[in-house]
Amino acid sequence: MGFTAPPAPELDPESVAEGERLYTTNCASCHMPDRSGQPNWKIANDDGTYPPPPHDNSGHTWHHPDELLVGIIRDGLDVGVPSAMPTFGGLLSDDEISTIIDFLKSEWGEQEQAFQWQVTWQGEQ
Ligand code: HEC
Repeated sequence: MGFTAPPAPELDPESVAEGERLYTTNCASCHMPDRSGQPNWKIANDDGTYPPPPHDNSGHTWHHPDELLVGIIRDGLDVGVPSAMPTFGGLLSDDEISTIIDFLKSEWGEQEQAFQWQVTWQGEQ
């Protein structure tokens, strides 16, 4: 694709630890403590919403650049259909949200981390 990202920045262990703490408090009840989401997350509920998806390698969180992930977590999903994903803008700062994303990154495989860094870097160009 012509543009190759520079090496991914190292994750800051303090940010990852803080993100894990915030994830456990704010996200684990729906997305599960091990980030595996709910079973059948690809099948709509009766009300048209979808169950919480996983954030691990089996999900699609790592397909999205940082900027989009911060936006989803802060402002919710705006995809034209009802969504059960809460908005955290009034509760968490952008910096706190970024630590949660760092925590999720730290648990992804090498390939997933590399892909997500590539799309994040491209979005910033
Ligand atoms: C009340 C349950 C609930 C809580 C708590 C919750 N989520 Fe979600 N989340 C959902 C649901 C349901 C979806 C799927 C929404 C859809 O597809 O419409 C979702 C979707 C997402 C997505 C988009 C899908 C993806 O993998 O890219 C992200 C990112 C996300 N959540 C992150 C978080 C983070 C981070 C927290 C904690 C700060 C959190 N969620 C807390 C229910 C929840």
